[in-house]
Amino acid sequence: MSGQLSIAAWQLDQDSAAAYEAYLVARFFGRWAERLVAHADITPGASVLDAGCGTGIVARTAAHAVPDIEAVGLDLNDGMLAEARRQDSQGHVAWESGSLAAMPFDDGRFDVVLSQQVLQFVPERARALTEMYRVLVPGGRLLIALLRDIRFNASYEALAAVLDRHAGREAGDMIRSPFAGPDAATLRTELEHAGFGNVTIQHDILDVRFPNPSEYLRQEAASSPLAGPLSELAEDRTRALIADLEAALEPFTDDRGVTFPMQTYLVQARRPGIQ
Ligand SMILES: C[S@@+](CC[C@H](N)C(=O)[O-])C[C@H]1O[C@@H](n2cnc3c(N)ncnc32)[C@H](O)[C@@H]1O
Repeated sequence: MSGQLSIAAWQLDQDSAAAYEAYLVARFFGRWAERLVAHADITPGASVLDAGCGTGIVARTAAHAVPDIEAVGLDLNDGMLAEARRQDSQGHVAWESGSLAAMPFDDGRFDVVLSQQVLQFVPERARALTEMYRVLVPGGRLLIALLRDIRFNASYEALAAVLDRHAGREAGDMIRSPFAGPDAATLRTELEHAGFGNVTIQHDILDVRFPNPSEYLRQEAASSPLAGPLSELAEDRTRALIADLEAALEPFTDDRGVTFPMQTYLVQARRPGIQ
């Protein structure tokens, strides 16, 4: 993976997309997708959009969980979409290339819009929420998962501080970026401004495990834009980083590796009207 990837939209190349699926989807995004789909209460035959689908775990989970739905995945990263198509060998989902800020869909196209860990990377967030509202039918439902601030995700805060010290502030900020989305009050205001009603925001906490501190770093880096800067570190620098990381993660380490609670917002809202 090259070091020139843009962190702004969390853009990954294809190898990183495969690593993202193998590591992060397997460790937590997959379980979170199951929770999001369960909360969505999708009815058979519904039309469902996975907005910012990445490798498509939310759309694939919905398509497997509910019979006869029309599932569509939208993302602007071709590497992620290629991996999504590879994972969906039976073609249960329609994969579309495009931005949340200008969706290639007609008004009222979907009964349910799901979006997992995307909005923190979208600079035009208000525009994306307006688009979600537009593509939903009146009465349609929106469910968003969005990580809480990094102070509620302490193992990542520790990881970012170690990266600051050994690989520079930019590397630390890459780990911080998924946690830099809006807080609950801001989200609620933005959703209501876009026209949504019945907004509820709850905290969802998942126990996550990695085999050891260095695998935690390696798997996170391989699945993110962090791979570039880390691969440029000298060997002794990397060794010092790992030693420091083991010390920093000691509160999260047991006999079976690194384990920690990860906290996200689970947001539900409805486009007013009768379906
Ligand atoms: C952390 S990944 C989450 C992927 C997937 N939802 C999941 O749960 O595994 C963030 C995704 O958002 C996508 N993304 C970021 N900005 C976007 C935009 N403006 N429009 C569409 N997708 C976007 C990225 O390409 C990336 O695939």
